[in-house]
Order: sequence, then C-alpha cells, then structure tokens
Amino acid sequence: MISLSSPKILGKEKEYIDECLQSGWISTSGPFIEKFENELSKYVGAKYVVCCINGTSALQISLKLMGVKKNDEVIVPTLTFIATINAVFYNNASPIFMDCDEYYNLDTKKTINFIKNETYFEDGFSYNKKSNKRVAAIVPVHVWGNAVWFDELYDLCSERNIQILEDASESLGTKYTKGKFNSFHTGTIGKIGCISFNANKLITAGGGGAIVTNDKNIADKALYLVSQAKDDPIRYIHNEVGYNYRITNINAAIGLAQLEMVDEVLKRKEEIRNFYFNQISSINGLELASVPCYAKNNYWLNLITLSHNYKHNISELLNKFDENKIQTRPVWQLNHLQNQYKHYQKFNIMNAEKKIKSSLCIPSSSHLTISQMESVINILKN
Ligand SMILES: Cc1ncc(COP(=O)(O)O)c(C=O)c1O
Repeated sequence: MISLSSPKILGKEKEYIDECLQSGWISTSGPFIEKFENELSKYVGAKYVVCCINGTSALQISLKLMGVKKNDEVIVPTLTFIATINAVFYNNASPIFMDCDEYYNLDTKKTINFIKNETYFEDGFSYNKKSNKRVAAIVPVHVWGNAVWFDELYDLCSERNIQILEDASESLGTKYTKGKFNSFHTGTIGKIGCISFNANKLITAGGGGAIVTNDKNIADKALYLVSQAKDDPIRYIHNEVGYNYRITNINAAIGLAQLEMVDEVLKRKEEIRNFYFNQISSINGLELASVPCYAKNNYWLNLITLSHNYKHNISELLNKFDENKIQTRPVWQLNHLQNQYKHYQKFNIMNAEKKIKSSLCIPSSSHLTISQMESVINILKN
C-alpha cells in the first residue's frame, strides 16, 4: 500500500521514548514536554507554546481563550477538515461559512466584503446584521501548507475587534516571503495559532497539538485549562472547569525527535513536489495544484486538478488508485453541506463547490520512493 501521508521515524524517537520508559515519566508531566515546547517556540518564532493532546483540543481551547462563547459567531472557511468547525461548536458558538480562493484557502476578499457589508460595529464589537450576534473571531486555515494572505484582512479584523485564530495544523514550516508578514511562520500572526502533530502531518508526535502565541496571559491560561484548571494541586482546588488535554511526555518525546529533523523533511517534501510537478505538467488535462507565490510552502500534501480534457473523473481515478493499492483522497466534503452544519449561515460560496469536484490529494509522505511516485504517475498517464 502506498499511503497518502504517513509518518517516518527520523532520528532519536526510540532513544527518547526509552528515556521516558526508564524514568517513569510517561504521562502528562516530564522533561520532554517543556523541551518540545521550547524548541517549537524557537522554530516558529513565537514567544510561547503550550502543547496538548491534539490539534482539535488546541483549537477548542484557543477559541475559549479568545472569549468565544454561547451565541457568538465565528467566521470559518467551508473548505477545511471538520475539526476546525467542531471547535467552534464545542464553544457553543455558530460558524459562518466562507468560500475558498484559488489556493483552497479562505477567500479573504469575500471575507473582507462580508465584514464590511454584512456586519456593523458597536460598543467595540462587530455584529452580524442578519443575526445581531457578535462576530467574535475568525479561523483562517492554511490548508495543505498553503499560507492564507493576511495583509488586508489582518488590519480589518484589528479595526473591527474580530480575533484571529490561525489553524496552522497543516502548515508547520510554511513562512511568508512577501508582504507585511514577510518571514513570519504561519500560526504566529493571529492572536493564537494551532498546530497538529497527528501521524499524517509534516512531523508527528504520535498525537499532539500546540497552542502558539506571543501573549503570556493566554499561554498561562492555556496551560491552566489543559491541565485540569488546578489552582491548588495539593488540595485539589479547581476554580474553573478544566480539561485533561495536556500532551504526554512520550508524545512530546516523539515530537521533539521529529522536530529536530524538520529541515530534512521540508527538503524531501520539496523534492517530491518537484518530481510531481515535472511529471504531471506533461499529462494532458491534469495540473499539480499551484501554491501561493508570497510564501515558502511546506508542500505537506500535493493535489492534482482535472480539467474537462482529462478522460476520467475523480471517482474513476479514486477507484483506479484503490485497485492498485495507492491511497488518494478527494478534498473534504464542504462543511456548510455537512448534516450537522447545513443550517448555519454561508456567504456566497461558489469556488469551493467547483474546486472539490476536480481535485484529488495524491501520496506525499516524506518517505515516498521514486518508484512509488512513478506508480502514481503511471496511473495518471494510463
Ligand atoms: C486543518 C485541520 N484542522 C484541525 C485538525 C485537527 O488536528 P488533530 O487531528 O491533531 O486533532 C487537522 C488534522 O487532523 C487539520 O487538518
């Protein structure tokens, strides 16, 4: 089986796990947690990192830390993994769904149009004209490593007090190379950024997530909330409802070993991208999905797009890959069409509906061999 995106053991994972087992630090305390957080904060260039059990819990807690609460609304892209939207729902708030741009990311122009024309500003907050509910936050997602263009949206959100939570689950290593945020890592521009270390991500911790911020109060409160809100750990005093969301030392140990090798992974991902690009550009009716020119991409996952010249559709391709034991995936079902979210507001969604019909994610693991990539290409050609 050639997998879509599976992990590779890169360096000191076994050594570090052994250290955990021998020391007995195998649960939610231990030295690897702090080491992983420190290294991650240096790597992305943010002051504070608090690690938790996964990216979903990081998103859930981050929205809570931003003060998102019952009856608030949160602007989200329809095209993202459902965890982004669930995190809004876990905070008893409602999503407002936005369209995607050419890179499958939140369409910032349409979003700006929505904020300017469909909301009003009163007493320091933005309110939705339709529902009169507060629009408390926005969650841009850097899908497949593609950086969202922030320059104008950032200014408007600051003016309108709409807090930005970046879902950088898939974009560790992607950095801006142009604009106001030139040389910033994705996940470090908004008030908070979240990263996932699930097994399919650029690097993994087995399972894990990170809350990234430059705000000390937010970082302190994040640590408090993900560790059961212990006000007095000896006498078991908890003044708030906390969560058992702290990462384990074993997961942090894996994450640290992987992070030590992140530059190699990024290099390999670029090689894979270049291989596919060269091969796919010669196939009639197919293209490798383009990536933003204003950022250095992490090339986490590659997608192909089919034009009407290509002789097969996405379902036929999926089946053909499956028969050949090659894992591919269509783009996620759009979230404004999911059963539990179809009654929420959506704004002018057109591009996303078109894009998902003609796109397919292809194997992109950093351990892919040339012959495995050739098998992928052969199916596309034949
Ligand atoms: C865009 C996006 N957001 C959130 C998540 C949730 O991360 P996790 O699986 O670590 O909970 C993922 C990945 O799974 C993701 O791809």
